[in-house]
Amino acid sequence: MRSLTVVSVVGARPQFIKAASVSRAIRQSHDEILVHSGQHYDYEMSDVFFEQLGIPKPDFNLAVGSGTHARQTGEMMPMLEGLFMEKMPDLVIVYGDTNTTLAAALAAAKISVPIAHVEAGLRSYNRTMPEEINRVLVDHLSELLLCPTRASLSNLEAEGITNGVNLVGDVMLDTARFFAEGVDSGPTLERYGVEAGAYYIATVHRAGNSDNPARLGSIIEALLSLDAPVLWPVHPRTRANLESFGLLDRLETSSRIIVSPPLSYIDTVTMLSEATALITDSGGMQKEAYFFGVPCVTLREETEWMETVELGWNQLVGSETARILAAIEAIKRPSDRPDVYGDGHAAEVIVQVIERHFGLV
Ligand code: UD1
Repeated sequence: MRSLTVVSVVGARPQFIKAASVSRAIRQSHDEILVHSGQHYDYEMSDVFFEQLGIPKPDFNLAVGSGTHARQTGEMMPMLEGLFMEKMPDLVIVYGDTNTTLAAALAAAKISVPIAHVEAGLRSYNRTMPEEINRVLVDHLSELLLCPTRASLSNLEAEGITNGVNLVGDVMLDTARFFAEGVDSGPTLERYGVEAGAYYIATVHRAGNSDNPARLGSIIEALLSLDAPVLWPVHPRTRANLESFGLLDRLETSSRIIVSPPLSYIDTVTMLSEATALITDSGGMQKEAYFFGVPCVTLREETEWMETVELGWNQLVGSETARILAAIEAIKRPSDRPDVYGDGHAAEVIVQVIERHFGLV
């Protein structure tokens, strides 16, 4: 079989988690050039994921760093274009919905390099989210749309996208199965001074919450009123805002909230899997909670992962204190948790879809 040259572009934390599985599967039979945009650059936001998940060292790091949306996206594009023109890969693989995803897709599409979008077809139907804009545009530019769920397939169909669409399952489940099974949670629980099933885990980084002092304040009020300790690994964006809104002291002086730097992948899934519930505005963690059978309370009004809500494992509550607390009170653990995210072999399916697309099998 002819081997393909693939350029994979990653840049933000959730993309490292997804690429870990896809990269491993691709490299079995094909050549991968891995590009890190540098959108996430702190050790805890980037390097630790490469180390823990055994992701190969990026061949290129564009070191784009932080910035406004246009600046960040715009700065990446000429660098990616130059690289694609030099390597002329058979395919560019992009992940999810970040500015890195959009920059790579725009740069590739304009020079007719085919794009495969991992996690295609997700929609929140909320255009105030920068991620929603990124997703919609990238889906319309991609030749291969690799969908994690049935709902994502229907979303694409509703937008008239039917060619190149494949239901492959969720690669985050692959990564969770590969790395999280059999981890001894004891030492990690001890490090944070909590007991299995007797603490919550919270994360907040979505712009709509973390950039808004009133919303951030009311989320904190809810966390301070819970009946058990809360482990809160704070995203750097949120930390900067907590500081500037004068909210950080309130947290650090509380004995109920354990404020921590961002956790590594293994620590995240370990602490998540033993928690009473997850309180989050993350996209990926809603699903990870479902993988581990942990109920989730989502600090947003909508989600791209409606299956988790429909199956009773997730509640959408926004950011008001009273609604968050009411949802915590109402938490249930349904008896059923079907495999709506596939069987943990999405990455292999992705490679098969790619090989079929190029007529190799
Ligand atoms: C980005 C993605 C979001 C994803 C999230 C995962 C976009 C539009 N959003 O949001 O979909 O869920 O990553 O974390 O691409 N910062 C650091 N160090 C870092 C990274 C970020 O200090 O290593 C700080 C900077 O102040 C930066 C801010 O966080 O300005 C925001 O980072 P950015 O990557 O722009 O967006 P995220 O909020 O992380």
